[in-house]
Order: sequence, then structure tokens, then C-alpha cells
Amino acid sequence: MDGGSPRVGDARPVRVIFVGSPGAGKGTQAARLAEFLGVPRISTGDMLREAIARGTPLGKEAEPLMGRGDLVPDDLLIALVRERTAREDCARGFVLDGFPRTVRQAEGLAEMSEGEVSDWTVFSVQVPREELLRRLSGRRWCPRCQATYHVTSDPPKREGICDVDGATLVQREDDREEVVARRLHEYEERTAPLIGYYRELADVVEIDGNRPMEAVFADLKKHVGVAT
Ligand code: AP5
Repeated sequence: MDGGSPRVGDARPVRVIFVGSPGAGKGTQAARLAEFLGVPRISTGDMLREAIARGTPLGKEAEPLMGRGDLVPDDLLIALVRERTAREDCARGFVLDGFPRTVRQAEGLAEMSEGEVSDWTVFSVQVPREELLRRLSGRRWCPRCQATYHVTSDPPKREGICDVDGATLVQREDDREEVVARRLHEYEERTAPLIGYYRELADVVEIDGNRPMEAVFADLKKHVGVAT
């Protein structure tokens, strides 16, 4: 845990949104920031993968869509996030990772959240396409605890083994080359317009994500009100 005194404890709950391409580092940074702030990280990708692993009705609907790199329907995601953010541990706020992903989802989030969108912290994380492809092709993932690694940028201590629980790491199904192309297309078509949407409502903080993880994280911390 990094030093500094995060903003939790203020009267207003912390709400952080990440908008960025697949592979931009949203999950990596959202996990760090949530720990730093002492609030939950809510990853819709992780929730959907967990639903698939458990074979729930949501998982059965999401699996073929995710396998192709398509988005899961807005109404399902809005209901999922509504239920998750209503839980007690979100009372002081949360860091969203992978939601909202469409303007409809952003509208759903505004409806379910009390308070002003202008108080939220919205990060737009930019990384060039060739670096996104390098990251996604080298990503390894723990199917048991969902920890994420990279074969060269962030390797586990023992090759192919999760540091957290010792499970064998795998490549995510949707990190296959042909699926990645579809995910990047979906991002450009359906998610990137969120940047303009949020610019109308709040300060959107542009983050250069094409830097070492520590440098990106130091930047993020500055913008949630904590000097590093
Ligand atoms: P989701 O799991 O959210 O995937 P994604 O948005 O495509 O994002 P990724 O997890 O691929 O990348 P990331 O930005 O989190 O990068 P990471 O930190 O892992 O969604 C998967 C699918 O679920 C979607 O395609 C869709 O079908 C469905 N879904 C989810 N949410 C939905 C929603 N709201 N609506 C509809 N459908 C939804 O980093 C990537 C790699 O790079 C890692 O190996 C990491 O170690 C490495 N890395 C990270 N930062 C750096 C750095 N600074 N330098 C070098 N390497 C780095």
C-alpha cells in the first residue's frame, strides 16, 4: 500500500471511472487505486467471467458474446452494477473498471447514483494500438482468483504460476488475435464516444497509459486528490 492519506472519509463518496481500450491497463490501475482509496474495485469483466465459471444464467448469455469480442447487453450490465453498488461496502464509493461502456450504460449509472456526475473522477487512458496488442498477446490470467500478469512487463515469480494462489496461469479466451480485433473495434464504435459524453458533465482527466505502471499510478493518485 502506498503512503499518503486518501480522500475516503470525506463526506462525498469517491467515484472513479476508467475509459480505455482493451489492454489500456484499466484493471491493473483500478485494482491499485481501489486499494489505495480503501474502496471496492468493481470490474464487470471479472463479474461476467465469474458468472461464466459458475454457469449462471447471466454467464450462459454472456459467454458466446464475450468469446466473439462483442459487448454484453446494456440492461444486463446496468442491473449487475446496480445490485453491486447498492451493497454496504460501496457506501464510501467505488472504482469502476469496464463500466460504463456505452452511453446507455453511462445514463444508467447516472440514474442509479445519487449526487452530481461533476464530482466524479473520469480517467481517459490512452495507449497506442501496437502497445495494446503487445500487452494483450502477453497477458496471462489466473482462472481461480482473476489476478493478471504479463509475460515480460509483469511476470509472476514462478513462470506460469499465480503468485496469489499457485494456480496455473492461462491466456484469456478473448485475448486471441481475431477476438482482440473485434474488441478494439467495439471500443472505438461504442465506448470511445463516452469521452465526449463525460466531457459535457465532468472533468475528464487524460492519462498517458503508455508508461511504466508506477508512473501511471502516480499520475492517477494526483487526480484523486492525493499528492505523491
Ligand atoms: P474486460 O474484462 O473489461 O476487458 P477489457 O475492457 O477488454 O479490458 P482488458 O481487461 O482487456 O484490459 P485492461 O485495460 O483492464 O488492461 P489490463 O490492466 O488487464 O471485458 C471483457 C469482455 O466482457 C468485453 O469484451 C465484453 O464482452 C464484456 N464486458 C465487460 N464489461 C462490459 C460492459 N460494461 N458492457 C458490456 N460488455 C462488457 O492490462 C493488460 C495487460 O497489460 C496485462 O498483462 C498487464 O500486466 C499489462 N499492463 C498493464 N499496464 C501496463 C503498463 N503500464 N506497461 C506495461 N504493461 C502493462
